[in-house]
Amino acid sequence: MTIQERNILSSNMASAPGKIILFGEHAVVYGVPSIAVPLSDLRVKVNWAITKSGNLNIIAEDLENKEISLKPNMSDINNPFARIVQQILDYYDATIPSGYIKITSDIPIASGLGSGAAVSTAIGRAIAQMLGYNISNDDLNSFVFEVEKIHHGTPSGIDNTVIVYEKAIKFKKNHPIEPLSISKPFNILIADTGIPAPTHEAVGDVKDLYENNTDNIQNIFDDIESIVNSATEAIKIGNLVKVGKLMIQSHKLLQALTVSSRELDILVETAIQSGALGAKLSGGGRGGNMIALVPQTKIEAVKHQLLSAGAKRVLLTTVK
Ligand code: MEV
Repeated sequence: MTIQERNILSSNMASAPGKIILFGEHAVVYGVPSIAVPLSDLRVKVNWAITKSGNLNIIAEDLENKEISLKPNMSDINNPFARIVQQILDYYDATIPSGYIKITSDIPIASGLGSGAAVSTAIGRAIAQMLGYNISNDDLNSFVFEVEKIHHGTPSGIDNTVIVYEKAIKFKKNHPIEPLSISKPFNILIADTGIPAPTHEAVGDVKDLYENNTDNIQNIFDDIESIVNSATEAIKIGNLVKVGKLMIQSHKLLQALTVSSRELDILVETAIQSGALGAKLSGGGRGGNMIALVPQTKIEAVKHQLLSAGAKRVLLTTVK
């Protein structure tokens, strides 16, 4: 037993999933509804322990922000880790526990799969457990949303919502969450360009476009809104051919918003040419991941072609 292990008073673990946005990214920031699903196989996991004395150390080997040590009366609330911890301490009117939170993550950062919100969610659950509470999803969601503002500037709230509740949702800013009704499960391949792309940059550029060319960009948002509504209906009745076509249309509109990239376009085109019903970028864009709706019989062929076309990794998820 190590000295650290001898000092442990209690320990446990918490986790949170990644996410993909099926329809409506970027426009969702401007009040358009959007559809997102959790990626329950791709998770952030945290192990925590309370020790007899010392600071609270948050250790994240897989992330850029490798390690921070939080003391009582910490002041650096612009650090995302510190911000989620501080909000939960304030909520329970508690002081910072001694111990550690060790984070491991399967979710690549800056890739459109919700790494930032998943890390905040998992840390939030851990710190509440350390204080002896099982925090409600409603409370945790509002705290993670505050941290999303550090990551994104003007987040819509979709990432934290789909990740905290871990449910397929139709989300509209400042509206109650609607569960997504899915009659027929479907397969999505997620192909990573391997290019990290911070969401706040793409969101900032769309904001500039909107401010300089409001009428045109509003027309694009209106088109995205009608796609999201048609997709909700098509998913509800299991019309996957229609869902695929709507994905292709969505990708074109996201190109017009300047948030695609050459690498994303190549992967989208490759997926469609090799048998996907539809494909589009997912999340903030510019890099990160694209998603393709693929019939069961075409999964291996599409995956193979995506890897040959430069995808750094391809994951399969079934939306149900
Ligand atoms: C990022 O996953 C989704 C965006 O629409 C930003 C947001 O909704 O906050 C690009």
